[in-house]
Amino acid sequence: MSTPHVFVTRMIAPEALALLRAQADVDVWPHESPPSANELRERAHTCDGLLTMLTDRVDAGLLDAAPRVRVISNMAVGYDNIQVPEATKRGVLIGTTPGVLTKTSAEFAFALLLAAARRVVEGDQFLRAGKWQTWHPGMLLGRDLAGATLGIVGLGAIGLEVAKRARVFEMHVAYTSRTRKPEEEQRYGLTWIHDLSDLLQASDFVSLHVALTEQTRHLIGLKQLHHMKRTAILVNTARGSVVDQKALYGALREGVIAGAALDVAEQEPMPLSEPLLTLPNVIVTPHIASASVATRTRMAVMAAQNLLAGLSGQTMLHCLNPQAFVGRKK
Ligand code: GLV
Ligand code: GLV
Repeated sequence: MSTPHVFVTRMIAPEALALLRAQADVDVWPHESPPSANELRERAHTCDGLLTMLTDRVDAGLLDAAPRVRVISNMAVGYDNIQVPEATKRGVLIGTTPGVLTKTSAEFAFALLLAAARRVVEGDQFLRAGKWQTWHPGMLLGRDLAGATLGIVGLGAIGLEVAKRARVFEMHVAYTSRTRKPEEEQRYGLTWIHDLSDLLQASDFVSLHVALTEQTRHLIGLKQLHHMKRTAILVNTARGSVVDQKALYGALREGVIAGAALDVAEQEPMPLSEPLLTLPNVIVTPHIASASVATRTRMAVMAAQNLLAGLSGQTMLHCLNPQAFVGRKK
């Protein structure tokens, strides 16, 4: 087979690019901003494989514009940016990077949990605004984690790592999940609650760890927010659209819940006109839960290995649709 041609949609770790360059002709999008849909189609047109990010939409339009593409390796654990059935229909294999980012993402969810509970960001802003005029015992009071209940929505790999960390902080941990995990319950002392509304009612903190699908879009809406305690804090490191952001704004403004810490938004990048940004009881970060030096390198290397394996007809490390290979015509 001739040397495959691949397009990488953003500058990634040099280790990963070196792996790719050893076996393929590699084109890299050099800019900080992602290629537009048109630019992506143009670049993909002559490619055999793509290494994509969560900001790239992989849909029928792109796949049709890239008739030679056989593998698309997404550098993320989430894949709501990809229409997997459309890829499968066309015999295109889709790779993802689970596992390598699990602990890093859980650490970040925990960082947000602690920051929101203890008002770390507000404290910093308070000081910088010149408001630290004295010390007084009622200043910037937060909430304890110890003794509080954390409700985890979605006990996948990342949810479980958050649960483990919460137990070390002496929190009670309850969870709801599509499948019950009796072994993990036993081992880590977790409580399973079948109904989301019951979980929300019982929790002082709620952390979201579900993938974005048609079933989980706006899983947390007005009704669910009203099930939560008025003192509760919501943490979202999953996907923005798992929460109805408008409803969340209303709930935070009206005191339906006490606070929120979000690493993801319905529209990313979040526009500065977003009403949530006017509220003091919200922390927002720019989708950086997996952004550690080591993890981003691991993700890039895994995505490169996935791409090369798929292109050379070997078993990919993580493939969402291995059945696509069977129906392959190219
Ligand atoms: C990040 O959000 C990912 O899905 O890897
Ligand atoms: C997410 O749940 C993962 O697989 O790491």
